[in-house]
Amino acid sequence: MAKGLVISGEFGNILVREKSGNKIELGELLIAETSEGKILMQVFDLVYGSQLSQQNLELVSGLRLEEDSEIELIDPKLRTYILSKLKNVLTIKNEKATAPKTLPNFFSEVRDVTKKDFSFMSEKIKNALYLGDLRSGSKKLEVPVYLDGEKVFSHHILICGTTGRGKSVLMSNLLWGVIDKEYCGMLVLDPHDEYYGRNKLGMKDHAKAKEKVDYYTPRNPPPGCKHLKFNIKQLMPHHFNGVVDWSDPQTQALHAYYKAYKKEWISSILLEKEIENIKFFEGTIAVIKRRLMQLLKLELHEETISCKGIFDMNLGEGTIKDIVKSLENAKTVILDTSEFSENVEILIGSLIASEVLDRYKNYNFEELKKKPVISVVIEEAPRVLGKEVLEKGHNIFSTIAREGRKFKVGLTAITQLPSLIPRTILANMNTKIILGIEMKPERQALIESASQDLSTDDRNIASLDKGEAIVSSNFANFAMPIKIPFFDLLVKNGKQEYIQNFNGIKP
Ligand SMILES: Nc1ncnc2c1ncn2[C@@H]1O[C@H](COP(=O)(O)OP(=O)(O)OP(=O)(O)O)[C@@H](O)[C@H]1O
Ligand SMILES: [Mg+2]
Repeated sequence: MAKGLVISGEFGNILVREKSGNKIELGELLIAETSEGKILMQVFDLVYGSQLSQQNLELVSGLRLEEDSEIELIDPKLRTYILSKLKNVLTIKNEKATAPKTLPNFFSEVRDVTKKDFSFMSEKIKNALYLGDLRSGSKKLEVPVYLDGEKVFSHHILICGTTGRGKSVLMSNLLWGVIDKEYCGMLVLDPHDEYYGRNKLGMKDHAKAKEKVDYYTPRNPPPGCKHLKFNIKQLMPHHFNGVVDWSDPQTQALHAYYKAYKKEWISSILLEKEIENIKFFEGTIAVIKRRLMQLLKLELHEETISCKGIFDMNLGEGTIKDIVKSLENAKTVILDTSEFSENVEILIGSLIASEVLDRYKNYNFEELKKKPVISVVIEEAPRVLGKEVLEKGHNIFSTIAREGRKFKVGLTAITQLPSLIPRTILANMNTKIILGIEMKPERQALIESASQDLSTDDRNIASLDKGEAIVSSNFANFAMPIKIPFFDLLVKNGKQEYIQNFNGIKP
């Protein structure tokens, strides 16, 4: 059934008059049939139209308000109406989608999209990563949206949206979907301890959790999970990039100590050991010492160092190795960092991510081909990828953002404030999952760095509801509006499928 008629406009801004009663929504997908195929369009704006002049409209409304009279000048359905502005999205012909190049005919009808229109999306893709279902306005279509997970994870993902719009729900869905897949390992730094699901539904409930999920926590690990402890000897000066803001003399001192004392460099600073032929300002060493002790929760009693935090002088030597091994075996490793200060969380991430990248850099092409891609999931990403932080120098996360994809190491960055991330890095994040964003500058930063032209989607993004998103990706042929399923339902439905398959007997 026709929803409206094309009446005028230009490429990328087609004006459609809505048939009365057929509410057209912002973000809705519509189709016009032409001899060259179907033209898929999306609504980006709605305006009023009327046959009456502004003056007459004012007069009619005045009479209604002041005189209480019901004047009808022409048939109301003809008199006033709504005009939708549409942008061309795709041309679909013979189940193939191509970039749009033509306009629909004058007065051609536009209609609702149906599942059949998207048969071009049902092609089987490698390492399918399920994101959600296609959406037209607020209506969900029974068309699941998949992207090639290996490509998507290695070329970085940005998940952004105002608080409460469903970033964590989406991340849980993604993790749930890849737990049993062999093409990727996930390292999750979890500052809210929400993904494993200690006290709620989470990754622990996956059928493959035992074999494929590792959970590290500093407080009472559940059975089968591990205590989070790192050995101080494994820390190197570069791990502190982006964690502590050292001055130049302080950085030089750190490196000098590392060079002189190797693995014992931190304890040597604490004990204020001398380095041959080098003299530092007393103040420099005192500041470094104090900061290291604070950050790593170390205490000094005469000549003995005691460890109060997760960094230990003796324990935890195998932690990094175990984590990296799990990641290389395509596991999901979740680190509960909820008890740590921001700096400590980033230091831990930096320790492991550096090891992962180093390891992958040392593999040759053939070896790397057999390895799973590893994605580092980081919440509040501007803490490590923000302009302000990067002005002070690079850290491992910005290194991964710039060159990780060559080595199959990617970032999954979650944030409410994409505008704080430099444009070069934003542009390098080749898949953006955009949830509702209220602040204009944040939308602008995304629109300017998206893989598809989203220049008319500002209103669309602002009006996204909880669980609604737009996926802009180098690996998709259009910016796909999706509805993200609620995690609990995804798990429940998945489980039902599992049980049905398990029973396996047809009545
Ligand atoms: N896809 C969805 N379907 C239905 N409801 C959802 C969906 N996503 C989120 N919600 C609802 O919104 C709430 C907040 O979601 P979530 O915790 O994922 O937000 P967030 O973006 O991570 O917020 P924050 O920035 O505070 O971390 C959820 O508890 C849930 O009730
Ligand atoms: Mg969240």
